Amino acid sequence: MSYTDNCKTYRQDIIDRFEPAYVIENFFNEKEIEKLIKYQFKNAKRVKARPSSGNIQSVISVQRMMKNLKWLDDKFKAVFGEYNWIQTGNYYITIRHHDAHVDLISDEEAENPVFDQNIPFKSVVFPLYLSPIDAECYTAFMHQRRIGHAATFDRGSVSKQEYSSYKLFREYNGFIDINGNAMPSENDSADWSAERYPTITKENFSGFSEEIVFKQRVGDIMVFDACQVHASCQLDGTSDRWLKNGMNIQFYKTVEPTIVEPTQ
Ligand SMILES: [Fe+2]
Repeated sequence: MSYTDNCKTYRQDIIDRFEPAYVIENFFNEKEIEKLIKYQFKNAKRVKARPSSGNIQSVISVQRMMKNLKWLDDKFKAVFGEYNWIQTGNYYITIRHHDAHVDLISDEEAENPVFDQNIPFKSVVFPLYLSPIDAECYTAFMHQRRIGHAATFDRGSVSKQEYSSYKLFREYNGFIDINGNAMPSENDSADWSAERYPTITKENFSGFSEEIVFKQRVGDIMVFDACQVHASCQLDGTSDRWLKNGMNIQFYKTVEPTIVEPTQ
């Protein structure tokens, strides 16, 4: 069964694992952070720059990375238990806020049989290097979750689909809350202000509401549901002049392969 079909069949299992976003402080020590910073430059075959996300990515295979850095895999297994051998994710370097999105398997990737036993589980985002050292970088995790593919949200025409492998949604349907109940595609955007979300217009924010906001700190990891909408934000009175290098990884649970009975 394809990843897309798995998301429908195992919908309740995915919802049952939902929980509020949280931070694990001091998950990485200084040496581990250094190893992770170096890994992107030693192992990237190419770099990718996309206007849609406003960042530069050194392209590496996350599952190869987990194999190469067994200590990393062990650390995540200690927190999450068993997960599928395939992970997705990327390094990024950016000076810009990221708009609201869900990091998951993209529409095109979903056709790849390698994902046929995957369902969404958890995501982590963590900074590796912040400049200045006390940079005021924040990430907001929304109440809204969406089971399916990688997605960005733009009601207007600010973003263009051709720049992103993430599916661009002009209408925000299909949001559910932490219990799996349907959520409206629009609301009064009580949490929005232009200063707080410089790259998201009020119109585009309508549909989202904040579950929690975390400040990024090197060494900590932010853990959240892989289906959870999130965006970077800037708290009132804080400076938006910073550069960050970080990483996001998505973990999946494994579902049983579908046994197709041979026809006689
Ligand atoms: Fe993300």
